Amino acid sequence: MATVSFDKATRIYPGSEKPAVDALDIEIEDGEFLVLVGPSGCGKSTSLRMLAGLEDVNAGAIRIGDRDVTHLPPKDRDIAMVFQNYALYPHMTVADNMGFALKIAGVPKAEIKQKVEDAAKILDLTDYLGRKPKALSGGQRQRVAMGRAIVREPQVFLMDEPLSNLDAKLRVSTRTQIASLQRRLGITTVYVTHDQVEAMTMGDRVAVLKDGLLQQVDTPRNMYDRPANLFVAGFIGSPAMNLVEVPITDGGVKFGNSVVPVDRDALSAATDKTVTVGVRPEHFDVAGSESEQGLAVTVNVVEELGADAYVYGTAKVGSDDSKDLVVRVSGRDVPEKGSTLHIVPRSGETHVFSTSTGERLSD
Ligand SMILES: Nc1ncnc2c1ncn2[C@@H]1O[C@H](COP(=O)(O)OP(=O)(O)OP(=O)(O)O)[C@@H](O)[C@H]1O
Ligand SMILES: [Mg+2]
Repeated sequence: MATVSFDKATRIYPGSEKPAVDALDIEIEDGEFLVLVGPSGCGKSTSLRMLAGLEDVNAGAIRIGDRDVTHLPPKDRDIAMVFQNYALYPHMTVADNMGFALKIAGVPKAEIKQKVEDAAKILDLTDYLGRKPKALSGGQRQRVAMGRAIVREPQVFLMDEPLSNLDAKLRVSTRTQIASLQRRLGITTVYVTHDQVEAMTMGDRVAVLKDGLLQQVDTPRNMYDRPANLFVAGFIGSPAMNLVEVPITDGGVKFGNSVVPVDRDALSAATDKTVTVGVRPEHFDVAGSESEQGLAVTVNVVEELGADAYVYGTAKVGSDDSKDLVVRVSGRDVPEKGSTLHIVPRSGETHVFSTSTGERLSD
């Protein structure tokens, strides 16, 4: 087992000016499950491939434990990788698929058998060891791919969207299995996904990337409660945080007819006449249509989920800009389409960002 550090690691693909990964700096603890997340093309796979040794590092360094592995070939790094397309060998049994890397490495037959059986037990594949991959379900094949990595007992697991071939329901159950398996084995893991829900539910910590640049690395809770900038605020959470540009006034910001008190320091740090206030859908207090308080929202669509409901509406913010907003309400008290809600952000639950730089201003 080992720590992993990206030390200002940079990858510039030949023929490109802009780094695909730009001075990535992350310290991953021994045994930690770290998730890299971000939109398509942000540099997740490139980061993982740099760590695996499948991609050159043009500046900076990568360390596993106290070894500098920046220029080591993949086979000397003591890692095992599970890809999205974990192509199993179709003509081999599950047992042979799982033991293949060990066989190539010249491990004695009896030892391979033992390791494969141990891994199969952990993965609940004991009854399938004699089968060919085509006689397995998608979830079972995915577990065989995990098994191939586990038998090698690496210092670090790398996984690049390993669940994206599975249907939605299987993906949810398999992600819990992977997370609990990783905790049991205690092997440092770097896991790539573009799905923020997957990231938030699986990771000890989550690293958000955008355009090759690390935006924030934090626990899921902190990421949700204190996003570092507008990008993370909008990316983490579903439905997304409402982000509204509002004028600064005495004692706070103007939110429709209400003045919402916000962190004084945040406002004094603002260099613009406005700030962007973020409010999660579950952090509004809703007043009836007779109320004059807060911001008037016209209800366009209501999505009922049983326990609660999401109201998708439009509000006039500022002079004439119309803004789409999402508000969570109780499932017992759902407004009619076309009606008006008056909403006020709950105190202490607002996030303040600089409109021009996007940086978080409130604490
Ligand atoms: N071999 C390559 N040569 C040149 N450019 C590349 C190469 N591989 C990736 N890129 C570029 O580098 C950037 C990062 O790509 P990367 O594959 O790391 O993204 P990603 O975050 O894994 O995206 P996705 O979620 O779509 O898998 C993209 O702009 C991509 O076009
Ligand atoms: Mg990728």
